[in-house]
Amino acid sequence: ELFQKGVKHLCEKGIKGVPRKYILPVPDQPNSGKGTFSARNLRLNLPVIDFEELHGPSRSLAVNSLRKACEEFGFFHLVNHDMPRDIVHNMMDVSKRFFELPFEERSKYMSTDFRSPVRYGTSFNQTSDEVFCWRDFLKLSCHPLSEVLPFWPSSPMDLRQAVVNYSTNTKSQYLMLTEAILESLGLVGTTTNENEKAEDLREFEDGSQLIVVNCYPACPEPDLTLGITPHSDYGFLTLLLQDEVEGLQIQHEGRWVTVEPLPDSLVVNVGDHLEIFSNGRYKSVLHRVVVNPTKTRISVASLHSLPFNRMVRPSPKLIDETNPSCYKDTDFAAFLDYLSSSEPKKKSFLESRK
Ligand code: SIN
Ligand code: FE2
Repeated sequence: ELFQKGVKHLCEKGIKGVPRKYILPVPDQPNSGKGTFSARNLRLNLPVIDFEELHGPSRSLAVNSLRKACEEFGFFHLVNHDMPRDIVHNMMDVSKRFFELPFEERSKYMSTDFRSPVRYGTSFNQTSDEVFCWRDFLKLSCHPLSEVLPFWPSSPMDLRQAVVNYSTNTKSQYLMLTEAILESLGLVGTTTNENEKAEDLREFEDGSQLIVVNCYPACPEPDLTLGITPHSDYGFLTLLLQDEVEGLQIQHEGRWVTVEPLPDSLVVNVGDHLEIFSNGRYKSVLHRVVVNPTKTRISVASLHSLPFNRMVRPSPKLIDETNPSCYKDTDFAAFLDYLSSSEPKKKSFLESRK
C-alpha cells in the first residue's frame, strides 16, 4: 500500500489532501477535545537551564532550577551546552539531506524489527497503527557504536561521521545532566567523593542511546492529523534538537501548549525511567507534534535509557515505609510486550506501570 511508504513519498506523489489512513477520529484531532482550545496560540516559556551555570560557582542554584523544571514541567530548554556548533549544525544538515534522497535510497533501511540497529519507517508503529501519523523517521541505535556503525546508511556519505560526532557529544551532555539530576534528587551531594559519584554514574554510562531523526512534511490539511500522537518517552532523558519550525506541544496544566524553538538550545525531557527512578517526583509528560501547511519540520531526538537488562525501579534511597514504591518493576521485556500487544493503546506505557 502506498501509505506504507511514508508521508514524504505521498507528498512527492503530489497528493492534495490527507488520505483517509491519516485522518484521526474527531476527538483526537489537534484542535478538538478538552483543553486544546486555540492550542496553536498558546505559547509556553519553558524553564531555561544554563549548562555553564551548572558547571560554575552557582551550581547549587542551577541544580535547584533543574529540580523545579523536572517537577513542574518535565521539560526544559538547555542553553549554553558545550557541544561544538559545527557538530550540531552538521547533524541537522545531514538529516535534511537524508530525507531529500530518492525514496529508493531511503527505503533500503526500512525495517519493523525493534532490535535492528537502523530502522527507516513512518507513523509510530506502522505494523499496528490503525491511523497513521504524519511523520517519517530514521532510527539509529548508537550502542555499542563499533557494532552498529556498519549498519547505518552509507548515504549521504557524511551521515555516519556526523551521527558519531553528534551522538558521542549528546551522550556526554546527558551524563553531566544526569549527575546534576541525581544531585537534585538528593542522591549524590556536593560532598560525595568522586569515586562514589563515578560509581553511581556507571550504569548510566552503560545505558543505551537511540538517535531518532524525524521528518514532518508540510501537510495539506494539518487539522486532521498529527505528526506524532500523544506519548511519553521511554527512557531516562531525551535531548531534542529542533529546527526553526515549531510543532512540539506538551501537556501542561491540562492544556496543550507549543514549545517555541529557541536557537542553539536543546529541549530536554524526563522519560518514563526517570519518573519511575524518582518514584514519581519527576514527571514524564505527554507530548505530541502538530504539523503545518507550508513547512517541513526536522527534529533529532537522542533517547537515553538505562541498560536493557536492568530492572527499572525507584532508587532505594527514595523508598521507605512512609514512601512506598508507586510503580511495578519494569524491564525492557515489559516495554516490548506493551509495544507488540494488539490492544488499543489508550494508556501510555508509563500508565501501564502504575
Ligand atoms: C518526539 O516526541 O519523539 C519528537 C518530538 C519532536 O519532533 O519535536
Ligand atoms: Fe517523544
